[in-house]
Amino acid sequence: MIIGRRRLAAAMACATLPAGAQGRDGLRAIAARHGITFGAAASTRWLGRDGAYDAALAREAAILVPEGEGKWDSLQPRQGQFTLRELEPILDFAARHAQSVRGHTLGWHTAMPRWVWAALDGAPAARAAALLEAHVAGVLALTRGRIADWDVVNEAIADPDLLPNQDLRDGIWWRSLGEGWIDLAFRTARAADPASRLVINDYGLEADWPRAAEKRARMLRLLRGLLARGVPVQAIGLQAHMPLDQPFAPAPLAHFLREVRSLGLEVLLTELDVIEPAGSPLREEDIPARDAAVAERAHAVVSTALASGCRMVLTWGLADPHSWLNAWAPARRADGAVVRALPLDAAYRRKPFWHALAQAFAGAPLHGR
Ligand code: G3I
Repeated sequence: MIIGRRRLAAAMACATLPAGAQGRDGLRAIAARHGITFGAAASTRWLGRDGAYDAALAREAAILVPEGEGKWDSLQPRQGQFTLRELEPILDFAARHAQSVRGHTLGWHTAMPRWVWAALDGAPAARAAALLEAHVAGVLALTRGRIADWDVVNEAIADPDLLPNQDLRDGIWWRSLGEGWIDLAFRTARAADPASRLVINDYGLEADWPRAAEKRARMLRLLRGLLARGVPVQAIGLQAHMPLDQPFAPAPLAHFLREVRSLGLEVLLTELDVIEPAGSPLREEDIPARDAAVAERAHAVVSTALASGCRMVLTWGLADPHSWLNAWAPARRADGAVVRALPLDAAYRRKPFWHALAQAFAGAPLHGR
């Protein structure tokens, strides 16, 4: 039976909630009771500047990931000058609130300062390799012992609609070094920080449609090759930016995660949010139904991942106004209204998304069946 959005919203409001979900416990405590680590992306655009933001992060998150402060342009803004200046406030906040921090991200095709692009322009492979090695080693020398989980390679798989005949994205590192750029990043990371968990992170892997199926196949081919070559990848991060206009069904994702786990790799959800189609104006009276649809999708993907052995879930921000989607053209609302992509609203109130996570962590169905 298809349940209407309004009835679903009402049913969720009356659902039997896991212990703590109606009280003061944040998601970090609820998740922890079930052996799960919950966290969120944090940004120094708000951290330390908004008391309610800080309080929400401290209450809800057991682990933080810097939204931008762990990227190349923050950590090595000038060649050879490594700095934690932008990252330090997040590391410091986490230490004060007994939180851990994920690193994001060492090797990516963007968020690099101009000097890197200039240095790579027409550079021979050896020079590109030296730049990548120096960055990975230089960053990890500073963060070793403070960050125990790193996205070493981010978004390396090509989108099948853009590159139908090639598994790997034709990003700057691939153009300079071929597939070997991924091996090099992981091997350098392992040598520089023997203790961190080394993660390959990507998007577009979760939906039930041909593009995602092809992306999953590409990821599996890559992982098998890496492991066969002894490359020290330990986990896969599913970003889980979930567009509502892409179909989702648990079975294909569960099958993929079984394959990944059978390779001996761990699975994380690293950047969860739900993307509503942009366009239609936001009517106040539609919000309950929209929030219910967002929550339903979040519950579906998180419970599928947890049932497949995932034990760490992070959302990409906590409260709607801070979502990157407010600035991303395909999701930005034409009427200027804030997106409703995250667990908390603009006043840091818990939305159905928040309850959906609490219920997924408790292994509970979405609406108390
Ligand atoms: O800090 C500058 C500021 O000085 C300047 O005035 C302003 C003008 O545009 O830009 C600011 O930098 C922006 C930065 O976010 C901080 O707001 C960059 O232009 C903008 O490109 C950057 O976007 C980030 C993007 O990654 C690129 O690094 C988003 O906040 C961040 O949410 C997004 O996160 C990515 C993950 O890393 C990987 N997966 C997808 C996810 C969403 O795109």
